[in-house]
Amino acid sequence: MKMGEFNMNKQGGTSDASTVESEIKTHLLVQHWRKDFPILHTSLYGKPLVYFDNAATTQKPSIVIEAENHYYRHINANVHRGIHTLSQQATEAFEATRNKIRQFINARYEHEIIFVRGTTEAINLVAQSFGRSRFKAGDEIIISAMEHHSNIVPWQILCQQTGAALRIVPVSDDGELDINAYQALLKPKTKLVAITHVSNTLGSINPVKTIIKHAHELHVPVLLDGAQAIAHIPADVQDLDCDFYAFSSHKLYGPTGIGVLYGKAELLDEMPPYQGGGDMISSVSFEGTTYNKLPYKFEAGTPNIAGAVGLGAAVDYLTAIGLDAIVKHEQSLLSYATELIANIPELRIIGNATQKTGIISWVMAGVHPHDIGTFLDRQAIAVRTGHHCTMPLMERFGVPATVRASFALYNTKNEVDKLVSAIYQARELFK
Ligand code: ALA
Repeated sequence: MKMGEFNMNKQGGTSDASTVESEIKTHLLVQHWRKDFPILHTSLYGKPLVYFDNAATTQKPSIVIEAENHYYRHINANVHRGIHTLSQQATEAFEATRNKIRQFINARYEHEIIFVRGTTEAINLVAQSFGRSRFKAGDEIIISAMEHHSNIVPWQILCQQTGAALRIVPVSDDGELDINAYQALLKPKTKLVAITHVSNTLGSINPVKTIIKHAHELHVPVLLDGAQAIAHIPADVQDLDCDFYAFSSHKLYGPTGIGVLYGKAELLDEMPPYQGGGDMISSVSFEGTTYNKLPYKFEAGTPNIAGAVGLGAAVDYLTAIGLDAIVKHEQSLLSYATELIANIPELRIIGNATQKTGIISWVMAGVHPHDIGTFLDRQAIAVRTGHHCTMPLMERFGVPATVRASFALYNTKNEVDKLVSAIYQARELFK
């Protein structure tokens, strides 16, 4: 096994000068980025933390931590409500993030950006507002076998409420969607397609443009679960032409408790409110209530203002680095780690799609994933073990759980080396 920060040459030969130069540049860049994340400089069990659970949540750069801190110290007030200076400042900071998100995902209008608690709430909003007001018995919703529970259960609830039925796109042994089967499932009675952009368990990047194109041929709207895509690949909602796009801030280096539902304005306009309360109304009397315009119609109650401010800082941070540089680095980590991990005897990688983000799930014959996870934890290596909220996908692959390492912009090949070496140790221990 050949390891080390600059051992990129897959054949084990010597790299040419430009490859080495590019490797060194990336190494220096990543070291620079790492300085922005205080938690990466902490230790566990006397060893430096190696954080490979980024698909569950990413770590936060100082700029995000300080933006929230600054908000509470100097600006804190409620939004859209007060004439006083602080309230206006809070409103400006909150709305500034809406504009940053609009630019980040290239939405046409700011009012297409709805702040929610996270991806889960975004999908529930679409199910209960869009779906419940339109779907009826006999209608069908297409999802896939690789969906996170948050893109399954809201539709199951909706099906119970309306009599609609779920149809499931199968997943191949490599972890790719069966697009022929998908096309066969699309019918006039299909009312919505809800598919993940990137699988949280397999890392597969789904051919969502093709999926959307086929659905639109039948005038079927498409919701994309962007939770695992948003920080790792470009998500241009106009280019994708998706009708809804959902993501969480905390997987984008931002705070927890806030996320975004993007929806095409013409659809959002027609949808009834999801929750009632303050801010979502235009006038209220006991005779009846009229609702506020977009996006406020969907933002009942005091929102997570500090979270929005932190999310704005996270978007600034990512924009300054540039998604291109992040994609390049994470793809390089993925191929480096895949090659080393795939070579470990008795280990099987679950998910070998041609297009992947930096997520590697695996099982090792005879060793429970939780035992590997616990062993790695004692080496200060954080990975996730379990079903990853994708129990139907576990069933598809005939495993109860996997170990999952997921990469972010601050991970290094040196950390991958530590992971691989620890897996070899675990293998010896549990043999
Ligand atoms: N959905 C998150 C994950 O995949 C929590 O870990």
